[in-house]
Amino acid sequence: LEDVKIAPSVLSADFMHLADELADIRDADYVHFDVMDGHFVPNLTFGPDVLRAVKGACELPVDAHLMISNPDEMLPSYLDAGADLVSFQYEATAHANRLVALIHDHGARASIALNPATPVGMLESIIDELDMVLVMTVNPGFGGQSYLPSSTKKLRQLRRLCDEHGVRPLIEVDGGISARNAAEVTCAGANVLVAGSAVFGVQDRPAAIAAIRKAGLT
Ligand code: DX5
Ligand code: ZN
Repeated sequence: LEDVKIAPSVLSADFMHLADELADIRDADYVHFDVMDGHFVPNLTFGPDVLRAVKGACELPVDAHLMISNPDEMLPSYLDAGADLVSFQYEATAHANRLVALIHDHGARASIALNPATPVGMLESIIDELDMVLVMTVNPGFGGQSYLPSSTKKLRQLRRLCDEHGVRPLIEVDGGISARNAAEVTCAGANVLVAGSAVFGVQDRPAAIAAIRKAGLT
């Protein structure tokens, strides 16, 4: 495997000490920023102003994951706030092409997130335009859930689709990822690993990041 990127999810950070938490993940490659609206998912997190603050407090690119029902309305706010890479949920829009174009117009990288029940084939007509695909490996909404084993097969199907199209978008996995299953997902095609509880749930965050990266490279 050529490369594995680690994206710690601030969902599992200590919100009262967010600046210190961000300083602790300097060895990572992205900061994963989970936006939840209490409607698309049964949980509520951060808005654009918090994204702007996170962007200002760390040097890592911000990987914004929008688990919201109205990405058509809200996407511009997250782009203006400084998101470098934006994933919107396939299930939340009838206009995926338009949203991808909007993200690119803002100079950001565009990604589509698929819920566990959404088949990879839905990306057939848009895969050529994507910088990344986010494969949800749990049902979105909460940190600390278990990896859904059916995700591994889905990753292989996605890699096949990319090969058929001759494209190589980043493939991100999100949910229940740790050093224990990092090799399984990277062998199946993932190269950006989100980790919430596996990083922020332990004391030594640099060690946790290194352990996941090392496991993913084997
Ligand atoms: C889940 C979020 C994830 C979450 C992952 O809905 O999209 O990004 O933070 O947390 P862990 O790694 O603990 O499963
Ligand atoms: Zn996420």
